[in-house]
Amino acid sequence: MKVTVVGAGNVGATCANYLADREVCNEVVVVDIKENYAEGKSLDMWETAPIFGSDTRITGVTNDYAKTAGSEVVVITSGIPRKPGMSRDDLISTNAKIVKEVTENAIKHSPDAIIIIVANPLDVMSYAAFKAAGVNRNKVFGMAGILDTARYRAFLAEELNISPKDIQALLMGGHGDTMVPLPRYTTVGGIPVTQLIDADKLDAIITRTKKGGGEIVQLLGTSAWYAPGAAAAQMVEAIVKDQKRVFPVCSLLKGEYGVENTYLGVPVILGKGGIEKIIEIDLNETEQKDFDNSAAAVQDVMKVLDDMNLF
Ligand code: NAI
Ligand code: 2OP
Repeated sequence: MKVTVVGAGNVGATCANYLADREVCNEVVVVDIKENYAEGKSLDMWETAPIFGSDTRITGVTNDYAKTAGSEVVVITSGIPRKPGMSRDDLISTNAKIVKEVTENAIKHSPDAIIIIVANPLDVMSYAAFKAAGVNRNKVFGMAGILDTARYRAFLAEELNISPKDIQALLMGGHGDTMVPLPRYTTVGGIPVTQLIDADKLDAIITRTKKGGGEIVQLLGTSAWYAPGAAAAQMVEAIVKDQKRVFPVCSLLKGEYGVENTYLGVPVILGKGGIEKIIEIDLNETEQKDFDNSAAAVQDVMKVLDDMNLF
């Protein structure tokens, strides 16, 4: 079972490393456009196999998609990351062209592959990949919700001084400042979080979560990679092992939650078939308003993509 990761940069290499170390699949192929970059990183990762005791074969190639043929899942991380002062949306013109080209190359050699997008602006790049791939919406989707929820859970764990393992949470909407964390659907060992934390502290955590990507950019001068790489790999694992995990995933909505033809984060069941079901939960008036607001923000960026006339 083969998985391709496109982009051997920070997020791509972290994702590939997770897949190999944990033997999520038999083979990982890493592709990059930069000469010898994927080859070098993959060789270094392969040399960790004897140390970690993994037998997943990991190789790197420079833009040679023939070597990716027959992949079950393709993770697309190729694209420029955010620098300080840039929003995710500033990345659109460069990354849309990269995502289109990469998706077309990948699907040509792996027509049955499930495609996971990581490149930003995430929701609109997922839409670009969907257009480029020309396959069913259940096979093209984006990673953001697991990352954003992980940040929310990590901040809650810190505040409550408890294990992040025991925090279950849901966050919906776009991957940006309009994302919609849902305290009503956040529990700690089964206890509603609102019973354990003051409202003002919870509000501060929600605000920090929404700006979580920017916080890392300010600290590092580029965007995050450990949590994003692990989050993408967790999605791959759910698919190749047919785990039927319930995750927030950036999915193409066709009427769900009252939204048409827009990629947004919603809870789904992830298994062998990709998105096997979009779960529609009850949102109260405020939550639905916030979700609609997030949809409108993503649709504004979709207009920028439409104006590029790439499709
Ligand atoms: P990076 O710059 O470390 O790596 C990107 C890699 O893509 C580079 O090695 C580059 O050579 C390669 N690349 C560029 N064009 C290519 C092409 N046509 N074919 C193959 N490879 C190509 O960037 P990093 O930090 O890994 O971020 C990658 C993307 O992921 C960015 O767009 C970033 O904004 C996004 N991101 C998304 C997150 C999410 O939650 N969805 C979280 C973190 C990053
Ligand atoms: C993140 O949330 C920048 O999307 C990237 O870390």
